[in-house]
Amino acid sequence: MSSKFQAPKGVSEYFPPDSIHFDYVVDRLSRPALAAGYRLMELPIFEDTELFTRGVGESTDVVTKEMYTFEDRAGRSLTLRPEGTAGVMRSVIEHGLDRGQLPLKVFYRGPFFRAERPQAGRYRQFYQFGIEAIGVIDPYLDVEVISIADQGIRSLGMRDFTLQITSLGDNASRDAHRKELVAFIAKLPLDDETRQRASRNPLRLFDDKRESIREMMEPAPRLLDFLTSESAKHFDQVQRILKENAIAFEVNPKMVRGLDYYTGTTFEFVHHKLGAQSGIGGGGRYDGLMEVLGGSALSGIGFGLGIDRIILAMQEEKVLPTNIGYLDLYVIGLGEAGRTRAFSLVADVRRQGFVADLAFGERALKGAMKGADRLGARFVLVIGEDEVTSGSGELKDLSSGQTHSVTLASLASSLASLSRNT
Ligand code: HAM
Repeated sequence: MSSKFQAPKGVSEYFPPDSIHFDYVVDRLSRPALAAGYRLMELPIFEDTELFTRGVGESTDVVTKEMYTFEDRAGRSLTLRPEGTAGVMRSVIEHGLDRGQLPLKVFYRGPFFRAERPQAGRYRQFYQFGIEAIGVIDPYLDVEVISIADQGIRSLGMRDFTLQITSLGDNASRDAHRKELVAFIAKLPLDDETRQRASRNPLRLFDDKRESIREMMEPAPRLLDFLTSESAKHFDQVQRILKENAIAFEVNPKMVRGLDYYTGTTFEFVHHKLGAQSGIGGGGRYDGLMEVLGGSALSGIGFGLGIDRIILAMQEEKVLPTNIGYLDLYVIGLGEAGRTRAFSLVADVRRQGFVADLAFGERALKGAMKGADRLGARFVLVIGEDEVTSGSGELKDLSSGQTHSVTLASLASSLASLSRNT
């Protein structure tokens, strides 16, 4: 019978056995951030709608077309978070976290929501791992943030991607560029809607997917040519430090990020095998955001990596591990005495740090052995009346087919030495 219910359109789901990859990816992405002193932030999934309209920006697709907004029972407008940075800043301001040692370094992971048209790699509920470093403007900090993403991605075995960087400069750089860009756009034959969009943020036209607009924007003035000497110096330093640390990158002056808060260094990790949804992660500086949200004038830089796309990219590169066994031991107890011993044995082995399971339900040996196979258990142990009496048994290695005689009382240490030897 097919279920009456289906998941809402366009959400990504992870279930066994493949959900083990999700955990593995989050763990590997977290390690370089933990090693660099970033600490966990676990934030609400919904926030005041205005946090995003003000923070992410009213000219963006994210705000104009993609937010899941609803009224709560008291008539407040709330929105499912489309991204993580605005929420982090809200929490930093609300709890005065910027009054401690700077930079404040935090990381987060979890679901995000955008009502986009679903397709491979583009979901309405998706997952990000992100970090933010708040309160210091220093090119070394920019490179620390970029390298944490780069190391995380590389530690997953991925190689077929490019790190693209650019700079959006400071306010003076953007003002100078904006003037020229607005003059350039004024001469283009645009429809009303596009012109209105451009009047809210002219940079958005660089992001337009239509071929006709792309062609028109080809000769448009580029921000990178308008950097003030201070912004240019910062960007040069970032490139120098990246090179000194052997972090491969390309400068892409055409890069447009989909969120309005960016300033200065911005970057994206573009995967070569993902087709249209090729951005596996991105980020940059947002030196005005905190002030816009009512906090002090502190800077920030961070990134968000798309966990769903990273898993897809790993599939394409064939680097998703196939051997992450999750079950070390499966125990089959036969008869009441066997089942009693099996249950306590499994509890003991679990306490020693092994992942162990046992056959539930009074099943025949053959069926229970099949269960061990299906679960991909490393070892299997059968406990019948004889084993209970003798206090020993035969541990079978399911990958090699070899058996090892073990004393039940010291099963955990036998498992440990067998795991070490192979
Ligand atoms: P973003 O570029 O909008 O940046 O998203 C980061 C990553 O999330 C993207 O590169 C992509 O891999 C993934 N992603 C975004 N939308 C979807 C979707 N609909 N389906 C699947 N994956 C998606 C941000 O969100 C910024 N908050 C990053 C940041 C942090 N900047 C500074 N700090």
